[in-house]
Amino acid sequence: MTDTIAVPLTDVRVAKLRVAYGARHVLVAGGAGVTPLLSLAYELHRRGAEFELHDFARAREQAAFAGLLEREFGDRVRLRFGGPRAEQPTTVKEVAAELAPDAQVYTCGPEGFMAQVCAVFAPVVGEARVHVEHFVAAEVDTSFDRPFTVELDTGEVFEVPADKSILAVLGENGIEVFKSCEEGICGSCVSGVLEGVPEHRDSCLSAADKAAGDKMALCVSRARTARLKIELY
Ligand code: FES
Repeated sequence: MTDTIAVPLTDVRVAKLRVAYGARHVLVAGGAGVTPLLSLAYELHRRGAEFELHDFARAREQAAFAGLLEREFGDRVRLRFGGPRAEQPTTVKEVAAELAPDAQVYTCGPEGFMAQVCAVFAPVVGEARVHVEHFVAAEVDTSFDRPFTVELDTGEVFEVPADKSILAVLGENGIEVFKSCEEGICGSCVSGVLEGVPEHRDSCLSAADKAAGDKMALCVSRARTARLKIELY
């Protein structure tokens, strides 16, 4: 971390608390750092906030969510592919040159990338408006996954095999569930849990929501109990 990183965040949800106050939000992602910023983008989108997301990657095929970003957020997304690392400071400066002084900046990516973003953006908007997220991708051991039963509040019952998600099983059976990322990030597929204990594997629910156990992301989360009863929102 450099001296220019004024407000380190350990959880991008903390950054969401700032959403209501900033006039404009600029999200700057490097590589896999787009993952937590995608969650923030959905939150901003839901709140009708003004934002733009700059996604830096070596190539389109290495930008995990390029298609999703374009589909979900349209011209709010600037995909920046192929620039050699040495040219990134110039590109980052171009973004900073268009910033309003009251913008809130959020960045996530490799340490060197975030240091560049902070060094360029902090003089424009002030250190307190540049927020960093140190992202470590959650690794899930799926080798012990077991089948379980899901019952809908309508009474329909489905078996979820070890290698499929609840969302996939419902889809195969013609049950339409609102979804988007299918990675546990956007929160689109979150549904209520009426009975049973979910095993949370998402990055969209808060710690309090997970502890309460009364909702779950159907695309990634599974069951700690042999049976779950869920309510589709
Ligand atoms: S579809 Fe995005 S969290 Fe499930």
